[in-house]
Amino acid sequence: MNSFGQLLRVSIFGESHGKSVGVIIDGCPAGIAINNDDFNFDLSRRKTGTKGTSPRRESDIPIINSGIYNGFTSGSPISISFENKDVSADDYLSFKDIPRPGHADFVAMKKYRGFANLSGGGHFSGRLTIALVAAGVIAKKIIPSIAINAKLIEAGGNKNIEEAVNKAIKRKDSIGGIIECKATNMPVSLGEPFFNSIESVISHLAFSIPAIKAIEFGAGFESAGMYGSEHNDLIIDTNGQTETNNAGGINGGISNGNNLLFKVAVKPTSSIGLDQNTINLNTGERENLLVKGRHDSCIALRVPVIIEAITALALADFYLLNQHQK
Ligand SMILES: Cc1cc2nc3c(=O)[nH]c(=O)nc-3n(C[C@H](O)[C@H](O)[C@H](O)COP(=O)(O)O)c2cc1C
Repeated sequence: MNSFGQLLRVSIFGESHGKSVGVIIDGCPAGIAINNDDFNFDLSRRKTGTKGTSPRRESDIPIINSGIYNGFTSGSPISISFENKDVSADDYLSFKDIPRPGHADFVAMKKYRGFANLSGGGHFSGRLTIALVAAGVIAKKIIPSIAINAKLIEAGGNKNIEEAVNKAIKRKDSIGGIIECKATNMPVSLGEPFFNSIESVISHLAFSIPAIKAIEFGAGFESAGMYGSEHNDLIIDTNGQTETNNAGGINGGISNGNNLLFKVAVKPTSSIGLDQNTINLNTGERENLLVKGRHDSCIALRVPVIIEAITALALADFYLLNQHQK
């Protein structure tokens, strides 16, 4: 199933080398001003074209099929699609028999019994994240007072991102990275206890992004080594502002009015320009595979805007839930 959200419900569809990819957003309130240009900035941040990203070139022009009328959301489901034009299916034909290590070829082959369109990574491709970014543009408009900013803070274990990317390219290898996300001007009271805590929902959405492997909120894993007296964020005013922010802006699953802070880890791209060993599913023999096709050497370069988008989706849904509960 490819839908998520309680009141703001998002479904994504498409395959990397199919006709198009896109998103359907249901539950968006009517009357939000939006036009095609509003998508440009965020879509451009996810685009390829810079060093370390895939040579694939797509126009990434959003086609708004429904739900936006005369420049405003109309209250009916919003459907946005993106054409896939720069496809080269032949490079991927062998992956159903000779799966790439680290990619979804093997599991997709088994789960869908050979029926899945695996070209370019098929439905598992990072191409689908354009749909999340488009949904994020709309979600950000539902919560305009909250500012969400994500940035890549290190790649391949190196704070000098350019140097790390150059090294990886030279080796014909790939690297991962760490992205830090901060939401400022957070209201108190977004999120629900237990199953729909802010941490749960953001994590659920973050792990929906291919290649995300870890997440931590506030002091995260470091919390385990701290004393309570160090970890407790002392409350310094009646709005709940705290002296420190080890909690990452969340207590009891609910936003406490401080900045929402979290980090995610992106793994190194599994498709690399080096020979790797894998299994031939037809012969049962192990064999070498040199992955063809076009790939990002560092996926993490393109992920910050996707992280912003999923954060906006989570917070906008919580905001609508609070309105609903009043
Ligand atoms: C923006 C983006 C771009 C990606 N580009 C590539 C790529 O060029 N080559 C590749 O092998 N994987 C790429 N991926 C990652 C794969 O989609 C992902 O590793 C695969 O679906 C398996 O999922 P998993 O890594 O979460 O297990 C990309 C992911 C994202 C988010």
